[in-house]
Amino acid sequence: MNMEHERMTRGETEPISSPRATLLESLNIQKPIIQGGMGNISPVELCVAVTQAGGLGQIGAGTLSVDELKQKIEMVQNHLQPNASFGVNIPLNVHPQLQDVIQLVIEKQVPIVSLSAGNPKPFIAELKERGRKVMVVVATVEQGKKAESCGADVVIGEGFEAAGKNSPKELTTLALIPQLTKALQIPVVAAGGIADGQGLLAAFAMGAAGVQLGTRLVMTKEATLHERYKDAILNASDEDTIVLGRSYGFVTRLLHTPYAKSLLQREKQGIRIEDLLSALDEKSHRLGAQDGELDQGHVNAGQISGFIDSIPSVRELFEDMELVARRRLEEIRSDFYQWEDKL
Ligand SMILES: Cc1cc2nc3c(=O)[nH]c(=O)nc-3n(C[C@H](O)[C@H](O)[C@H](O)COP(=O)(O)O)c2cc1C
Repeated sequence: MNMEHERMTRGETEPISSPRATLLESLNIQKPIIQGGMGNISPVELCVAVTQAGGLGQIGAGTLSVDELKQKIEMVQNHLQPNASFGVNIPLNVHPQLQDVIQLVIEKQVPIVSLSAGNPKPFIAELKERGRKVMVVVATVEQGKKAESCGADVVIGEGFEAAGKNSPKELTTLALIPQLTKALQIPVVAAGGIADGQGLLAAFAMGAAGVQLGTRLVMTKEATLHERYKDAILNASDEDTIVLGRSYGFVTRLLHTPYAKSLLQREKQGIRIEDLLSALDEKSHRLGAQDGELDQGHVNAGQISGFIDSIPSVRELFEDMELVARRRLEEIRSDFYQWEDKL
């Protein structure tokens, strides 16, 4: 039995302290919606729009050189109010100059740092000592507990539905989040498969303090990514993402494009792991996502792609999410009352 359940059985319905309030305060944001890191292609415009709409905008370090990342950070800072919040996502096993990137985010006063794809332990203490808030992306309860014990402020639980590199453990958001919120004291953010107010409400229902979005934010006006990428997601069905790398113990979820299809075929034929990894590097990501060359480069997309049928501004998206979540909550509540009436 978890704490929430124990309190509710004692008749205490008010939360002791809301994980959402802790999240908003910790990240210095108004809405519990985070933009996931997007590797080298993270658009500055999108990061700025998400923060200006009240969420947490982020840029991805991907494999950008320290100079390239510095330029992006400065562009974001030039567009935002001095005390506005934003983050940098550092995929630990991916970036070749990790220590330099850590120093950069400290020097450039980046308020929030998100660590993914690797062991965060060696970096959390240093970042925290220098006043940064640290979020860690995890895919299992064990990883979540480790991040919490190392001093992370927030854990982002990412399910296997999500776009891009996922954990080979393949836990889904629906299974992962309640187990994380049961096991951890710090706020848990749900990522993977969330694209509207229903997803937001579902995340809250599982005890998540907020959500992190990837695919849905690719599909916004401010995401300066290629029209062919966006059109392909608009036309996608629920079955139109595929997973590559399984036979080598890594997992990456892509849109089912001609390029991804041919790589899957080559994986079945036993392509060398180095060749597969190089076909999925950030150069290929840029070719697909920025240049729209869908037969020469890859594009990330999550299983929720088939649900997405519009390209709103970030502000419109957030307003709609809030509206749909509120409406759906009322519907659920009145549904429960009708149940009670029938008992
Ligand atoms: C284009 C793109 C690039 C991504 N690159 C990264 C990355 O560099 N680092 C990371 O931690 N997550 C990355 N992700 C995952 C997102 O940050 C986010 O957690 C995920 O997309 C959430 O699932 P969803 O796509 O179902 O919304 C990427 C996602 C997309 C769509």
